[in-house]
Amino acid sequence: MRVGVIGGGLMGSGIAEVCARSGVDVTVVEVDEQRAEQTRGKIEKSLARAARSGKLAEDDRAAAVDRLAYSTRVEDLEGADAAIEAIVEDERAKRELFLRLDRVLPDAAFLASNTSSVPIMKLAADTAKPERVLGMHFFNPVPVLPLVELVRSIMTSEQTLDTARAFAEDRLGKTSIDSQDRAGFVVNALLVPYILSAVRMYESGFAAKEDIDRGMVKGCAHPMGPLALADLIGLDTLLAVSQSLYEEFRDPASVAPALLNRMVEAGLMGRKTGRGFYDYSS
Ligand code: NAI
Repeated sequence: MRVGVIGGGLMGSGIAEVCARSGVDVTVVEVDEQRAEQTRGKIEKSLARAARSGKLAEDDRAAAVDRLAYSTRVEDLEGADAAIEAIVEDERAKRELFLRLDRVLPDAAFLASNTSSVPIMKLAADTAKPERVLGMHFFNPVPVLPLVELVRSIMTSEQTLDTARAFAEDRLGKTSIDSQDRAGFVVNALLVPYILSAVRMYESGFAAKEDIDRGMVKGCAHPMGPLALADLIGLDTLLAVSQSLYEEFRDPASVAPALLNRMVEAGLMGRKTGRGFYDYSS
């Protein structure tokens, strides 16, 4: 089986790695050579780390590396059995990409988006076969977190959903849950208002960031606190999800606090840029 993964950032590189480790041939498409090389470096480093820690046999690591190809052209996906899109969270860019995927992959079983906030119906609408478009929403870090949300638009067929479920569960070993095509799907619709509340609490001086995070870790047994989690997700992504939640539900709990807007404007996106609520530069 061969899958195209478009976008090799935080999520795309994780999705590509998990596919390759599961015996799937993967072609990752990035915007330019430099980004493609960065993606290769990230994935190979992560595979090497898994091998060093004993989670992956050396032979399996080498086989996974061999299953991965990198490209800067969507046309190189021709003949792939399915595609998973994980490019920047920009509706226009994603819509354009789905039109191209639709043309390049007329026979693919499904075209999936890892979007956190763009309605799947908007990505499917202009394609020739909207019934094969769905959301496959992975969680970061993809090699570690088992969940995939399968999101069906009003046009997604039962067959597409079944094929994507079999791929996620039987091939990749993930656990899936189903969600309607509503902003935030299941997990972010619950999680994002909670994180935004923590940002507001910090912004207002109610408590120190370390105390907010420690409170939820030690008091509720969460693996990490909400501000550390915001840094892991990426503050730009968090902002995009909060905007789409507000647009859909008009719930004040989903309004982005001013501090979050300012941090994104300043380029403080969290771990991926080395600084967010915490400093990761070292
Ligand atoms: P990122 O910024 O780390 O990666 C995006 C990548 O896409 C970049 O490497 C960029 O060069 C590439 N790209 C942009 N336009 C492209 C195009 N036209 N063709 C090929 N590559 C292109 O972002 P991240 O965090 O990986 O997010 C990707 C998607 O996954 C977004 O839709 C986001 O909402 C979603 N997502 C993010 C999660 C997170 O925790 N960060 C969790 C679940 C979903």
